[in-house]
This record gives sequence, structure tokens and C-alpha cells, in this order.
Amino acid sequence: MPLHKGSPASPAQAERRLALNPFFGEANPVGGMTEAPPHHQLPDGPLPPSSAYQLVHDELMLDGNSRLNLATFVTTWMEPQAGVLMAECRDKNMIDKDEYPRTAELERRCVAMLAQLWHAPDPATAVGCSTTGSSEACMLAGMALKRRWAKRNADRYPGSARPNLVMGVNVQVCWDKFCNFWEVEPRLVPMEGDRFHLDAETAAALCDENTIGVVAVLGSTFDGSYEPVAEICAALDALQERTGLDIPVHVDGASGAMIAPFLDEDLVWDFRLPRVSSINTSGHKYGLVYPGVGWALWRSPEELPEELVFRVNYLGGDMPTFALNFSRPGAQVVAQYYTFLRLGREGYRAVQQTTRDIARGLAERIEAMGDFRLLTRGDQLPVFAFTTAEDVTSFDVFDVSRRLREQGWLVPAYTFPANREDLSVLRVVCRNGFSADLAALFIEDLNRLLPELRRQPHPFTDDRGSATSFHH
Ligand SMILES: Cc1ncc(COP(=O)(O)O)c(C=O)c1O
Repeated sequence: MPLHKGSPASPAQAERRLALNPFFGEANPVGGMTEAPPHHQLPDGPLPPSSAYQLVHDELMLDGNSRLNLATFVTTWMEPQAGVLMAECRDKNMIDKDEYPRTAELERRCVAMLAQLWHAPDPATAVGCSTTGSSEACMLAGMALKRRWAKRNADRYPGSARPNLVMGVNVQVCWDKFCNFWEVEPRLVPMEGDRFHLDAETAAALCDENTIGVVAVLGSTFDGSYEPVAEICAALDALQERTGLDIPVHVDGASGAMIAPFLDEDLVWDFRLPRVSSINTSGHKYGLVYPGVGWALWRSPEELPEELVFRVNYLGGDMPTFALNFSRPGAQVVAQYYTFLRLGREGYRAVQQTTRDIARGLAERIEAMGDFRLLTRGDQLPVFAFTTAEDVTSFDVFDVSRRLREQGWLVPAYTFPANREDLSVLRVVCRNGFSADLAALFIEDLNRLLPELRRQPHPFTDDRGSATSFHH
């Protein structure tokens, strides 16, 4: 007699079996996968998970190595524990505050920590939110500026007045997008001579009764330099005294808002300046978290018009949210909280100082080669831009970028905007994980290439666009 005897499945059991996830178990690979699945249309049937994994994995091997990507500001290394936490949270939707109240609470704690770090007058009442990155944070901050201006000018808008936003021509492309999407006139201050970012006097001179705000960048994507936020605020104070115009400032601290508080404590750029009404940063840049998380904060609830805020269920009550997206993973916010907890002020200071030291050291060594001229030195953001020295005629920055790519290094080369279109540069972004050892290997590779570049009869890069992977 058999030990176990199967019984015929009841209809209810048969239904349970049908509810199994088709991803479980091996699908029958009909014909042993003699044909590759199509690339641009949904395949007719399933593949075993191991085959699907291998196909995708193999194709991705041809991507650049993110750690050697000196073009990106975005975090490319976190410690394994952060990775584990993120894996544990990737199924949690950030918007489901009621279902995931602890994740919601970690987001609130991060906002409170940033409010304090950026010297909000009353951190308990400062308002803020997480976003997918600085771009979304800038859109939200720009929207708040526009709505506040529209309310102040309800007699003229949307009638005759057209809102404008004053900023340097060096702003990141997210501000062009904001102006385009939200129908705001961008008023761009061009570069002039050796001034590669916004200056206070020109910014104030461009403001009028239709200016919704001035954007000051800490620091510039083009060269890593900090814009003079305090001077810009002072020029706008003077403008207010002369004309009565009261123009708020938004600080785009995508990178610098997580550098300056730790390394430049005496630099006054944040909510200590009463004119600074909002600040954004990218948690996934020098906040040291994998992409995509950003933060937007307003100095007080008055700066964020109530009608822009939506409410979702939270612990039987409701919780205000401000976002463009609805669904978004909770993992990055959890990783941000982990990193705040893990490093604290001292830890952040140590990490950012090391990165700045590496950037400065690398810039000096590049300068010492004699073939290049530094525009910035890595002493603000740990980022520097450099061009070829005056007497170099056999190669240009695009050649250098192309040749470095052969060694696996991604270093963008690009031309500056108005009024310095005559100037093309290379830019190196140092990040946590770009160690002194890697920096030394980079110098070795550049040194090895230089004799060949010097022997060129003239610059070789005809197609500058394809020579560099860079897009602002
Ligand atoms: C100054 C500045 N603002 C905004 C952004 C956009 O940030 P994100 O990539 O987080 O959307 C960047 C990105 O480099 C930046 O440098």
C-alpha cells in the first residue's frame, strides 16, 4: 500500500493552481531556444528566467563602467548594506503613505534633517518633499514661485503680463524645461570673459515686475563653481529698496547643497539669507544615494501655495504631498535616511573632504602637465573644467575625450554657451568611490596618450557631437 495517496483535485484547488505566477518555475523553452527572441516586438511566448537574464545581462556588458564615468554627478557606489536595504524596499510605493507609514516617516525625518542643515528659521515648520531628482524638485520650486507671483498679480495675469525667471545661461537643462513646460520666459545672463556663471548686478538688472524669482546655482554644472548667492540676494535687497520689487531666490543646490554645509560652513548661501525662499538638492548626487532621489524644501509654509499641495491617506488622517509623479519606489528615500544615519555630519564631512582633496590633487596634476589650462580647481564642487593651453594646436578637448574613452574613461568635452562659444572644455566630476588610486590611474592613462596627441598634425575630431557623451 502506498504511503501517500493522491486525491483528485477539487475545483477550488484547480483554481488555486491557475492563480500561480507564470514567472514561477521553468517555462518550456520550445525547441530549446534555437531562435533569438525579437528585439522590438513582444515575443510570442515566455523564456526561462535564466535565458532571459543572460540575454539582458550580456547586452548590458557593453554599457560604460559607471565607476569610470567622470561625466556624471550621480552616485555610482554605495556600501552593500545600503544595497540590501534598497532591495528590501523596492516594492514599496512612496505614495502609499497609509500602507507604508514607516517609509513615510523616514521621508519626513530626512526633510527635517535637511531643514536644519540648511538653517531654516524654524526647522519644525519648514516644508519639503522627496522627488525623483533635482529636475522634479526644480519644477516644483519653479511652480511655487510662479503661483505666488500669479496671486500677487491677479489683476494682470493671465491677462497682459508674461512671467519671467532670471538665471545664468549656465543653468542645467531642467530650468529650460521648466520655462518651456510652464510658459515662463527664461531671462538668461550670458557668460562674459572669465565669468562663467550668474553675477549679482546683471541678475538684478534683468528683474522687473514680471519676475517670479531668480535662480542661483550652487554650483554650476558647467565648471563646478558656486554662484554668489549672498551677493545676488544683496543686489535684490538693493533693488527692492529702489523700486519696491520683492524678488524671491531659489537656490539650485543639486550638488552644492550637500557639499557646502560640510566643507564651507562659513559660506552663507542657504535659508540664513531671508530672500532664499526654496532650495533643492539631488539625494543621488552628493547626498550619496543611488539614483533617483531629490529634495525640495521651502523656508516656511507661506512659500508653498496651499492649493498646489495634494493630500493622501495617512494613519487615518491625511498627509500633504507635492510631486509630479504619483507612484515612485520607496527604496531611494530609505537609502537616503540610511546614509544620513550612517554618516552623520562628521561622516559626510570626511567623505566630501576626501572627494574634494582628490579633485584638487587631480586638477593640479593636470595643470602641471603643461598642455592644459584650468578654469576651475575642484575647490568648490569637487568638479573642475579645463581646456587646452594657448600654444596647443595639434589636438583639442574633443580629441582628448575621444582618446580617453578608449581607456574606458568617460570625460565629457563641450562648448560653453553665450557669450563664450569660443571656449571648449573637458570636465571631471569626482565622486565618492573615485579613489586616489583611480585618480592616479587616470593620470597615467592621460600621460600615456599625450605624446600621441602632441604628434597629431591638427585636431582630428570632425564630429564633436559623437566624440563626447555629454548632454546638460
Ligand atoms: C545644477 C543642477 N540642477 C539640476 C540638475 C538636475 O538634476 P537631476 O539629475 O537630479 O534631475 C543638475 C544635474 O546635473 C544640476 O547639476
